[in-house]
Amino acid sequence: MSRKPIIAGNWKMNLLQSESKALFEGIKSFVSNYSATQLPTVVIAPVFTSLNQVSAIACDCGCEGTRLSVAGQNCHWESSGAYTGEISVEMLKDAGCSYVIIGHSERRQYFSESDEMINKKAKAILAGGLIPIICCGESLEQRESGVTDSWIASQIRAALAGISSEDVAKSVIAYEPIWAIGTGKSCDSEEANRVIKMIRGVVSEVAGSQAADSIRILYGGSVKPSTIEEQMSKSDIDGALIGGASLKAESFNEIIEKTMKVAV
Ligand code: 13P
Repeated sequence: MSRKPIIAGNWKMNLLQSESKALFEGIKSFVSNYSATQLPTVVIAPVFTSLNQVSAIACDCGCEGTRLSVAGQNCHWESSGAYTGEISVEMLKDAGCSYVIIGHSERRQYFSESDEMINKKAKAILAGGLIPIICCGESLEQRESGVTDSWIASQIRAALAGISSEDVAKSVIAYEPIWAIGTGKSCDSEEANRVIKMIRGVVSEVAGSQAADSIRILYGGSVKPSTIEEQMSKSDIDGALIGGASLKAESFNEIIEKTMKVAV
């Protein structure tokens, strides 16, 4: 089964509106050289205040938005109400998003997001017609104590609980070992591929083999232009979720270009 790769940029809490616009324009001018079928699925997750601006440019690229997709970095599971500081799936959709990142380790760590909350968010995103990018990953301490696989399997089982096989099939998972995020030290690509295969096995158990074949599972953690070709050449790595290297058009575009060489 061939799965279309995804290259996703998570801008985290960076870039003002003018800076987001300039960076997005830089990516747009690169992807405009290619047809949507030549490209991986390219997804950008800016801060909420830049969503409208970036979505307007995405729709303006003469490609019905298919070359560049926009993502929220988080959402609430309720559709509206007294949840100060939160944003709903419908609001993200209204601002041009088609994907939403959930369960990022920074949200789990700094905002105490639980597996149960992530499961509710995944269900709300799918019910709203958007695609969740569900993050999972182990800490260095967990890796060193040998619980990586069981920890990640439990994160995935919890995130996907009660979701239909059809919805699981269209979802995206990002394996991001916490110790590899922002450290410059990417996980060895063989090992990342092994963990991702293990995740696919868990998906198969909970949603069946068709969903496991279809779901796209990304690697994240210090992905750079110099690492992407090897990562994308692995059997089960379907793309990358990129932080630091997505903040410069030059490095992000180079990652897209190298992905096209190896995997699209
Ligand atoms: P870095 O690419 O900066 O390591 O960040 C990875 C990440 O957390 C993407 O969500």
